[in-house]
Amino acid sequence: MKVAVYDTHRFDREALEFANNSRHELCFLEMRFTEMTAILAQGCDAVCLFVNDRADAGALKILKDIKVKLILLRSAGYNHVDIKTALQLEISVVNVPSYSPHAVAEFAVGLLLSLNRKIHKAHNRVHDMNFSLEGLVGFDVYGKTVGVIGTGRIGKNFCQIMRGFGCRVLAADTYPDRQWATKNKVSYVDRSVLFSESDILSLHTPLTSETRHIINPSSMALMKKNIILINTGRGALIDTHALIKALKAHLVSGACLDVYEEEGGIFFNDLSESGIADDDLARLLTFPNVLVTSHQGFLTHEALNDIARTTIESLTLFEAGGDLNKVIVTI
Ligand code: NAI
Repeated sequence: MKVAVYDTHRFDREALEFANNSRHELCFLEMRFTEMTAILAQGCDAVCLFVNDRADAGALKILKDIKVKLILLRSAGYNHVDIKTALQLEISVVNVPSYSPHAVAEFAVGLLLSLNRKIHKAHNRVHDMNFSLEGLVGFDVYGKTVGVIGTGRIGKNFCQIMRGFGCRVLAADTYPDRQWATKNKVSYVDRSVLFSESDILSLHTPLTSETRHIINPSSMALMKKNIILINTGRGALIDTHALIKALKAHLVSGACLDVYEEEGGIFFNDLSESGIADDDLARLLTFPNVLVTSHQGFLTHEALNDIARTTIESLTLFEAGGDLNKVIVTI
């Protein structure tokens, strides 16, 4: 099958070419998928999209017109696709439901340790021959209360790592896994308890209408004043304006953000010469207690290989008319 692979970077091109082994015809495009660029898939059977591609109704209608039958997502999340319209237009949508959950969980812990112990600042400092320790005081993670919203594949891994640190772990999930929680000494509590008792709060839910702005002025009002927020889920889980306000008022001790509400068009790109037009992101970058990374939680060899292998397997299954119910995204 012929596939237009959008928003391609060297790392995913290498993994996809290896997994594909020349079986399908992969056409790599660097631009993101939008209503403007959908037409470039003309002549292809499928498109392959990443997290900042936008498959809205307009773009999907173009895919229908040019007879593209399948959307392969190189991600678990599918909030960037209008699934309802895709299904109405009889375009199949397949995600990668599971790939190394360790990659994102470990990265979240890395962000926490870097921000808390100011490792990023220390690194820059010593390269400037400044060996002072002033301003680098952190706290022991041991013994702290960690709140986790979303105990799916990634959230569970994160909880278990934090248990290993000797933390008390509180969790909230629409579908709690009580057997796992008992085994790992994790306590499911009401979200209000989780907000009010956590020293560290990490978000691991998908972005849905229910989880959009789960961190907002009301939830922030319940939180401890020295809380550290970690978001490796999706940017819009946090109301950015509310976060900036809380940071300005010193109501939050710090934020580790691997994702950002308006990251599309910014993250994954080198804008070092042009700068950014997004004032909220620019403001976040000015806070000494905010660590921003460019949606790189998934970026390990293991995760990339899992994503590439599943993507090619889904494509091959689709071509063979296989049982797509096992892989198709349903709502
Ligand atoms: P998962 O589907 O295994 O787990 C998600 C969990 O969230 C489930 O247990 C579900 O019941 C829970 N949940 C859903 N709605 C909820 C709500 N309203 N309140 C409380 N819990 C709710 O997903 P997985 O693999 O753990 O990934 C989680 C999210 O992490 C993804 O949806 C994606 O947005 C993000 N992600 C980020 C990456 C990065 O590079 N930063 C890479 C991969 C995923």
